[in-house]
Amino acid sequence: MCGIVGYIGKREAHSILINGLKRLEYRGYDSAGIVTIDTPSNSFTAFKKKGKVADLEKAISGKSSKGKIGIGHTRWATHGEPNDVNAHPHFSPSKKLAMIHNGIIENYSSIKKELISKGHKFDSETDTEVFIHFIEHIQQNNGCTLEEAVRLALTKVVGAYAIVILSKDQPDQLIAARKGSPLVIGIGKNKEEFFIASDATPIIEYTREVVYLNDEEIAVLRGNDIQIKSIKDIELTPYIQSLDIELEAIEKGGYDHYMLKEIFEQPRSIKDCMRGRVRLKEKKIVLGGIQKNIDNLINAKRIILIACGTSWHSGLVAEYIFEEFARIPVEVEYASEFRYRNPIINKGDIVIAISQSGETADTLAAMELAKRKGAINLGICNVVGSSIARLSDEGVYTHAGPEIGVASTKAFTAQLIVLTMMALKVARYKKTITEGHFEELLKELTLIPEKVRKVLELSTAIQKIAEIYKDATNFLYLGRGYNFPVALEGALKLKEISYIHAEGYPAAEMKHGPIALIDEEMPVVFIATRDSSYDKIVSNIQEVKARKGKVIAIVTEGDALLPKMVDYVIEVPNTSDALMPMVSVIPLQLLSYHIALMRGCNVDQPRNLAKSVTVE
Ligand code: M6R
Repeated sequence: MCGIVGYIGKREAHSILINGLKRLEYRGYDSAGIVTIDTPSNSFTAFKKKGKVADLEKAISGKSSKGKIGIGHTRWATHGEPNDVNAHPHFSPSKKLAMIHNGIIENYSSIKKELISKGHKFDSETDTEVFIHFIEHIQQNNGCTLEEAVRLALTKVVGAYAIVILSKDQPDQLIAARKGSPLVIGIGKNKEEFFIASDATPIIEYTREVVYLNDEEIAVLRGNDIQIKSIKDIELTPYIQSLDIELEAIEKGGYDHYMLKEIFEQPRSIKDCMRGRVRLKEKKIVLGGIQKNIDNLINAKRIILIACGTSWHSGLVAEYIFEEFARIPVEVEYASEFRYRNPIINKGDIVIAISQSGETADTLAAMELAKRKGAINLGICNVVGSSIARLSDEGVYTHAGPEIGVASTKAFTAQLIVLTMMALKVARYKKTITEGHFEELLKELTLIPEKVRKVLELSTAIQKIAEIYKDATNFLYLGRGYNFPVALEGALKLKEISYIHAEGYPAAEMKHGPIALIDEEMPVVFIATRDSSYDKIVSNIQEVKARKGKVIAIVTEGDALLPKMVDYVIEVPNTSDALMPMVSVIPLQLLSYHIALMRGCNVDQPRNLAKSVTVE
């Protein structure tokens, strides 16, 4: 949440900052702001604006500075409503220091009280303004350097932060630090310029060489020098990595929206996820990332999957797969609940954290807790080098490519692939699956990209269904077995981007309550593919039809029964029950997309949301 960018070098910072903010806008879009230092006057030129980066750009038009150093911020509001005043950057009382911040300072109100008692006045309601006042206060009181004041302040604040500070008195220096919120530093040619950002997307068009700052590290960037120290004042050697992302991967590539592009990328992203791992000829699955822990997985008494949102739904599917094939008990936990309820972790338990961004604060904190309690932490992340990936003992990347639309789509299907590969690999070692069944599932996995491609061809037909139901105020999504988590995911997708209230339920639970909602106005989406619970779900559909509900059913190609019973059908190719979620979720992603678009919603940046939830 919140995107931050910084630049120091020989180019004009303004356009680098604005373009960087556009790339990071998925992280928050309540307000945006930038500040640069102009030379030779060494004065700040700052602009802040409520709304999107485009609004900021409009406000700046014709007034941009030529400064070669600056910082910028796009905000997802935590403390204080979204307005121009609460927008970042924030300034110290002398107006000599400017700061941008991603995260939350939990003890800001006690610090604020103390500063007010010393005469400080605040313009905004933000914790960030308190933070930068606090830093200047320490600097003035101790007569120390800015770098030392930042370090001392960081030892006193509680919470999460990624910060970048600009000082008028040192116009050739940027100071950055992080704890709990991500920060990447891009190293330009010959170290003549440096870029800072919440993720690598604003950086890759300038350089592929990056340093990921670790928690409680402070970086000072000057001239052609990068210096990193720990919060305990120990000098560290920057670990420079080379990034492997292409610029096209973070652009829309001819699609109207990132979400649509990402939905349509799934045949490729699923293939990429399996590449080199599913080896049909050799009849095996290779997952180098968890090789050291494979014995621990095989012998695990219990697997705990922790995640949030869509990633939690992929965990639910994995619960069925691990239990069916590997015969290991699985618990799927909301990271936000797990971390606060003193969970029981036994020796031999494996915790698998699932996260697209690898930065979700609750998931990170849950992993830290599990680690403290002695669990082995495995991670399934999409973003290479992310905090969760780095905290994991071992893990598997999903390789779905950058996912920029706030609604998660291709990350979900890639997570399912990784979790399935893990479960099947373990099942084979444990001999809880026959060789024949293993090979059959392996073959079926390789056919998934083509089956997904076939479903994507239905986009226009799904658009027509969307047209009919776009004005509905409520939706129910029902599924059983492997398709139950898909129902939850379909409902989440619809509510988050179209703002229509939607509930997902196990179809059999309907009669214990939700059936009361059904009338002629209520669209009910059944995920009713031909699996082991098909006959049961047919009965559930009859129960809805008997109450005049409108039924849209996702069915298996060639189903002769359901098309006669329901109002609309969407046919998907058949596959094994366990793999069906990767196919049956696709029409639900498309349905949400089309409905949201028809309702005039911003599908890539839905209201109140952010892509990467780095606050708890
Ligand atoms: O990056 P993560 O997978 O950890 O994110 C978890 C959720 O915040 C995320 O899935 C969210 O629910 C999406 N907006 C769903 O589309």
